[in-house]
Amino acid sequence: MTQLKVVEGDITQLEVDAIVNAANTTLLGGKGVDGAIHEAAGPDLFEHCRTLGGCQTGQAVITPGFALPARYIIHTVGPIWRGGFNQESTLLAKCYQNCLALAAQHNLKSIAFPAISCGVYGYPVKAACEVAIGTIRLHASGRPLPEKIYLACVDENVKNAYYQLLGPNS
Ligand code: APR
Repeated sequence: MTQLKVVEGDITQLEVDAIVNAANTTLLGGKGVDGAIHEAAGPDLFEHCRTLGGCQTGQAVITPGFALPARYIIHTVGPIWRGGFNQESTLLAKCYQNCLALAAQHNLKSIAFPAISCGVYGYPVKAACEVAIGTIRLHASGRPLPEKIYLACVDENVKNAYYQLLGPNS
C-alpha cells in the first residue's frame, strides 16, 4: 500500500531513493528548488546535465544524486502558469506521471516531490496540489512502486493546501 506523506523542510536533505527537481528546459539550474538541488548536489550535477540536451515541459529525466543524500534526482519541467487555458493542468499531471513512471522503472522505493510549478512558474497552489495528489493516487492505484511518496514543502500555502486535501495527519 503506497504511503503518501507531507514533509515540511528542505527537499535536498531527504534520504530517499530520489528527489524530484522542478527544473527548466535547459536542466542547467536556476533559482528555487532547482538552485537548492544544484547547490547541494555539487558541480558534478551541472557537468552531467550539460550532456543531456535539456528536457521538455511535462517530461522527466533521471540523474545520479551526486553529493545529495538521495541516490537519484528526477528532473522534470513544470508548466508556466499562463491563465489555465494552455494545457497547464495536463502538463503538470504529466510531470508527476513521468517522474513516478521513471521511479518505478528504476525500482525505486521512495521519492520526494517539491510542489512543481508553484514558485517561479506561478501555478495557483491549491489547483497544483490537487493535480499532484490526484495524479499520485492514480499511479499508486495501479503500481506498487514507489512505496513511499513524500510531498516536501517549505511554503506555508503549499503545506496548508496539502493538509487540506490529505487531512491533518498526513
Ligand atoms: N525544498 C522543498 N521545496 C522547495 C525548496 C526546497 N529546498 N525550495 C523551493 N521550494 C518550493 C517552493 O516554495 C515552491 O513551492 O518548491 C516549489 C516550486 O518552486 P520553484 O522552485 O520556483 O519551481 P517552479 O515554480 O517549478 O519554477 C521552476 O524556477 O528555479 C527556476 O530553474 C527553475 O526555471 C525553473 C523555475
